[in-house]
Amino acid sequence: MISIAWVLFSLFGFLQAIQLPPQTVLLNVPALSVLGDNATFRDIATPFNPTNTTPPFFQVWDSRFLDILGPKPRVRIIAQSTDGFEFAHEAPIWDPIEDQVFFASANIGPPLGNVNATTNNDIFVINLKDVKDIPGPQNITWTQVPINPPVQVVNGGTPFGDKLLFVGNGRENLPPTVTLVNPRPPFNSTTLLDNFHGRQFNSLDDVRVHPKSGAIFFTDTEYGFLGGFRPPPQLPNQVYRLDPVTREVHVVADGFVITNGITFSPDGNTVYLSDTGSCCFGDEFTGFNSTEPSTIYAFDVDPQTQRFLNRRTFVWADTGIPDGFQADSNGNIYASTKDGVQVYDPTGVLLGKIFIGSNSANNVFAGNGRMVVMAETMIVLVEFAANGSLVELT
Ligand SMILES: *[C@@H]1O[C@H](CO)[C@@H](O)[C@H](O)[C@H]1NC(C)=O
Ligand SMILES: *[C@@H]1O[C@H](CO)[C@@H](O)[C@H](O)[C@H]1NC(C)=O
Ligand SMILES: *[C@@H]1O[C@H](CO)[C@@H](O)[C@H](O)[C@H]1NC(C)=O
Ligand SMILES: *[C@@H]1O[C@H](CO)[C@@H](O)[C@H](O)[C@H]1NC(C)=O
Ligand SMILES: *[C@@H]1O[C@H](CO)[C@@H](O)[C@H](O)[C@H]1NC(C)=O
Ligand SMILES: *[C@@H]1O[C@H](CO)[C@@H](O)[C@H](O)[C@H]1NC(C)=O
Repeated sequence: MISIAWVLFSLFGFLQAIQLPPQTVLLNVPALSVLGDNATFRDIATPFNPTNTTPPFFQVWDSRFLDILGPKPRVRIIAQSTDGFEFAHEAPIWDPIEDQVFFASANIGPPLGNVNATTNNDIFVINLKDVKDIPGPQNITWTQVPINPPVQVVNGGTPFGDKLLFVGNGRENLPPTVTLVNPRPPFNSTTLLDNFHGRQFNSLDDVRVHPKSGAIFFTDTEYGFLGGFRPPPQLPNQVYRLDPVTREVHVVADGFVITNGITFSPDGNTVYLSDTGSCCFGDEFTGFNSTEPSTIYAFDVDPQTQRFLNRRTFVWADTGIPDGFQADSNGNIYASTKDGVQVYDPTGVLLGKIFIGSNSANNVFAGNGRMVVMAETMIVLVEFAANGSLVELT
């Protein structure tokens, strides 16, 4: 009988023999599965880079990742702060009309972010037309978007018709909100929701629009309290559905330590939700508690009620937390984690990583064949063969 290991080794040899695209490293998964008694094993915060290749590059864990990369993939830093400011944290929204990406800076106090009792975080925009066709890192300009009235500590965003849909953490006693923003000057905003039947939410984290019904789904969590700029949570960390017309709002899923990212499969029949309870030691951001969840769960979306049913473990991320994520047009999931972006097939098998070697909080497809990764002090542009699945800004 031919052993599985022999088949895998032969496959690895075959794949090594074929020409790999640029910036791509094939991992020898069978060899990596035994490190030996004297190996240095790592912890949750240390990225796994057994190749010694300098990031950013593509780690191939499954040969199907080569179809996602296509023949000419490229991954580059296109903007980078030099003072440690985490200007590129969350809420990325691609605007196909101007080819811009809107995004939010870190929801944390100085020096990484600007959030405190008197200061909000920032919304910035970059224009992808500014990216030059040169190899290696570059530094395109990011400019502030003066939303009026401002949304307090934006942390999640997605397109909504011709508007940007943001969720904000709130700040001090200012409530968390679900808010629409005009992507053009004067960047006026209209809040759709700032309470649950009179009670403030904890701190809204991420948001998506169901591709068929157009209803808004958002996660509520306690990061504002953990970050020291919101009062102690008054509600469970759970997930809500908001009807944008009637403004009816109700809970669709609970039972999380700390809710975080949300996205739908392209057909809207499955929803993915992360629980990032491992983010912290108790009430402190002082380290990862690796025995708590770093997990994305999958649920069926009930066709009638759109409640989230049949919860199952989709993936457990090996490095840091699976923060924000997106689905491609084939239903693969691109999760931002502490080593970059991890790509899983719809059954939860790790296909490969866009390996950055440091934290990424979210990412967004910028049309067919492009992805923009929020990597805190960096923005990374990926060019490959995958396409996004979100209903685009009009
Ligand atoms: C591990 O290190 C010990 C002490 O240096 C050595 O005796 C042993 O042979 C090593 N084991 C392996 C598998 O390399
Ligand atoms: C990129 O530009 C920003 C502001 O324009 C600047 O603060 C930063 O130092 C620049 N980064 C590099 C790597 O030069
Ligand atoms: C809040 O943060 C801003 C920006 O980092 C800083 O200028 C300001 O002094 C801080 N204010 C307080 C009260 O800590
Ligand atoms: C911005 O203002 C215009 C003009 O009053 C209005 O039509 C539009 O709905 C506003 N957009 C938002 C998001 O508030
Ligand atoms: C880590 O989480 C476990 C529960 O999974 C808890 O018992 C433990 O106290 C936590 N550790 C810290 C340092 O917060
Ligand atoms: C992505 O879109 C392009 C058209 O822009 C198409 O040629 C290609 O087949 C699509 N790729 C996938 C994986 O669907």
